[in-house]
Amino acid sequence: MTKPTELDPQSLPRHIAIIMDGNGRWAQKLGLIRTLGHKAGVDSVREIVRVSRKLGIQVLTLYAFSTENWKRPKDEVSTLMNLLKTYLEKEVQDLCANNISLRCLGQIDKLPPDVRDVLLRVIDDTSKNTGMVLNLALSYGFRSELTKGVQEITRQCLEGNLSVDDINEETISNHLYTAGLPDPDLLIRTGGESRLSNFLLWQVSYSELYFTEIYWPKFREKELIDAIKQYQVRQRRFGKTGEQIKKQET
Ligand code: FPP
Repeated sequence: MTKPTELDPQSLPRHIAIIMDGNGRWAQKLGLIRTLGHKAGVDSVREIVRVSRKLGIQVLTLYAFSTENWKRPKDEVSTLMNLLKTYLEKEVQDLCANNISLRCLGQIDKLPPDVRDVLLRVIDDTSKNTGMVLNLALSYGFRSELTKGVQEITRQCLEGNLSVDDINEETISNHLYTAGLPDPDLLIRTGGESRLSNFLLWQVSYSELYFTEIYWPKFREKELIDAIKQYQVRQRRFGKTGEQIKKQET
């Protein structure tokens, strides 16, 4: 197994965001029903949360359920909701023991009341933890996030609390679910697809993208470390030249 020490601790991504894809295909490949893929996916969630914390990652954002996922068959949606609820109930102690604070990105009010209650309780119980932020994107879609942000900004303008000329990029960032958090440095998508699927489209403007064929249930410690290693050999230029960046580093 790859040792975390092989990573450069000085250039770890502060924020890692993950599109966890491939649960269904992993299960189907083994002749299992899709929902067993989601169940195995929860084990990957546990491991990736644990390893991220151990490595010192500040923010981990997991795309667990999109606004579009409500269109899936009813029994698959209810399995996902039950898995989520069980995960939260079981994990709250571990999150606290590891100083991890849970947050949610997305339309909490769309979740079934029992799931929402547990979620809000865990968010509250872990709110004082400072070691790592774990964001679960639930009933999340960027277009809906942006729409909500635009509505809030417009309301402030209409109420006279904000001038149109004062709206800048920071104003917009501050009206997204991720307000106050650093943008993702590294965006990982498992399961072989190369698309962003309405995930954090503003926030990933300068993220390094890492696409892997590996299905989410098989994405574990070694795979996360491989992704971070790949991130660490990339040069992030933010529009500048390579020479400017080298000069900046010396
Ligand atoms: C995509 O795989 C995955 C999802 C829609 C859900 C991800 C959920 C989990 C990993 C489990 C619950 C989460 C938590 C945080 C406890 P897919 O079904 O679209 O895979 P496919 O593309 O192979 O069909």
